[in-house]
Amino acid sequence: MSGVVIKGTGAYLPALCVDNEAFTKILDTSDEWIRTRTGIRTRHFSDGEPGWSMGLKAARQALDSANLRPEEIDLILGTTVTPDYCTPSLACVLQGKLGAVNAIAFDISCACAGFVYALDLANRYLMTDDKIKNVLIVGSEMLSRVTNFEDRASCVLFGDGAGAAVVSAADALFTSSLKVEGMGAGQIFGRYHGTRNPFCNPSPAMDYDEYGDYKEGCLYMNGKEVYKFATRVMAETVTEAAAKAGITPAEIDLIIPHQANIRIIETAAQRLHLPMERFAVNIQKYGNTSSACIPICLDEVNRAGRLKKGDKVCFVGFGAGLVAGAALIEWQ
Ligand code: UT7
Repeated sequence: MSGVVIKGTGAYLPALCVDNEAFTKILDTSDEWIRTRTGIRTRHFSDGEPGWSMGLKAARQALDSANLRPEEIDLILGTTVTPDYCTPSLACVLQGKLGAVNAIAFDISCACAGFVYALDLANRYLMTDDKIKNVLIVGSEMLSRVTNFEDRASCVLFGDGAGAAVVSAADALFTSSLKVEGMGAGQIFGRYHGTRNPFCNPSPAMDYDEYGDYKEGCLYMNGKEVYKFATRVMAETVTEAAAKAGITPAEIDLIIPHQANIRIIETAAQRLHLPMERFAVNIQKYGNTSSACIPICLDEVNRAGRLKKGDKVCFVGFGAGLVAGAALIEWQ
């Protein structure tokens, strides 16, 4: 078999919902600016709940909707840029909490394109390893953990949440187009503190400092550069994934994009000559939850019954790395 079927989906958003107006109390900003420049109206933040717990709730929902027991999962792929622990991985924590005793588990770090890279990897495992029959992908993010709430150009964009999907092998379509432009690594980054070794003289950091006002422990983002990258690569990767399937973007029924900025999605739609109705959008409610965006949106679309058998669905993401990717499947 050489394709994938999405057997189940799940999502979880923490209860604390913060509207744009709330940011006007802590920053020089306005609801009007945030709405018109980004499309965002509200976002959800963890009230202290750890990321693994959000991921666990989304994972359980995905298992329920796939009608599978935790023991039937063979591989768990975690995606997060905001893990609770530097080790163990989110995926290992979830394996234990779920009781998915037969699963191997590890995380991948592909920022906001995490779901697309995980889907690509799941497809490769399912094609090449007889022992892997069901893969659980979980994206769980607590961006509020690394957000610089003094930087109005970035803090209004992010939110927390988790999304999950169960993926199995099927005789169905799967193509992907992945892209990395590591020269742009300094355009979005967050870093750990330096060495704790007591033997060296403290020296200044020597990596991406030239990029500007970086607040230690927080995410730095050059919004303009990421914007340019995003609008270019979304169209490129979707077109390439479609071409590999022998179709044009116009033949894709639904695109589920990373939700970073409504204007990015609109520009990609124009470049692909597609109407906005062809894109699933929920940025207004949740903002940018990095690798959780796409599976959260997928779950919403799935539960709304928006997809029918045979529909061609394309996932497209981009983010820190700089990474980008699109994956095309046929809904079963
Ligand atoms: O997940 C992937 C990573 N992230 C992204 O994909 C984000 C990509 N970038 C973006 O979405 C946009 O670049 C932003 C939303 C970050 C910024 O929007 P923009 O239209 O590119 O605004 P700008 O940076 O050109 O700023 C325009 C003005 C500036 O004021 P001046 O210099 O013209 O006086 C900013 O200081 O808007 C100001 N501004 C704000 N004003 C009110 C920036 N943020 C805010 C704010 N409220 N929150």
